[in-house]
Amino acid sequence: MKIFLDTADINEIRTVARWGVLDGVTTNPSLYAKVGGSYEDILREICGITSGPVSAEVVAADVEGMLREGRAFAKLAPNIVVKVPMSEEGLEAISRFAEEGIKTNCTLIFSANQGLLAAKAGASLLSPFVGRVDDINMEGMDVVRELVQIVEIHGLESEVLAASLRHPRHVTESALAGAHVVTLPFKVLGQMIKHPLTDKGIKTFRDDWDKARKAAADKNAAEQSGDGQRADDAREAIKTDAVATKPGA
Ligand code: G3P
Repeated sequence: MKIFLDTADINEIRTVARWGVLDGVTTNPSLYAKVGGSYEDILREICGITSGPVSAEVVAADVEGMLREGRAFAKLAPNIVVKVPMSEEGLEAISRFAEEGIKTNCTLIFSANQGLLAAKAGASLLSPFVGRVDDINMEGMDVVRELVQIVEIHGLESEVLAASLRHPRHVTESALAGAHVVTLPFKVLGQMIKHPLTDKGIKTFRDDWDKARKAAADKNAAEQSGDGQRADDAREAIKTDAVATKPGA
């Protein structure tokens, strides 16, 4: 399962790339709004950090607008994937992009049927939003599970990318459901690393190490001072012996 970072924050992306677990990046207008600047410059910079897929989202509502924006994104770097929302226009744009050899990520998927249609239209990635389905008191992970099954049963070429993941359990459940990709906020990735027993274990090992080193140093010092004492005693004995054996003594 691939791990993408769901962010437009360059520092977060650089950090996760250094951890060696970054397979790609997804952005959207809301994530871009958090960092500001030029969206194109940010996308270029991200594509310089990872050679994995980098999703750039169109905002036009009409097919021609989507195509115009998407084609411009695709020119920025070879690993750009154009993110297109699920809609009638979105499906048409996805199928046109597929004809042009431009990869797409169909976003804002909330049902397996929407995902099935996006796959048929030619989307490379299908993004069901898990957390937002949970938000309306339904089971978001069911969409991932159903969509993975549909893709596998029918040998579709698209990959299921579990999105809108809000906590580490969402990641485990997506992995168990067979999602091909998860995209995560930096915070969730950090939470995956942490475990209180790991922190406790690291501290115990460090404390035990320090104790053992101190004990070894003390023992060494004691032995050296014992050697010194024995040398003094030996010197004293030689002196006494010499006086005792002196002629006329
Ligand atoms: O990848 C989609 C994601 O950015 C949406 O997440 O938490 O706003 O539902 P969220």
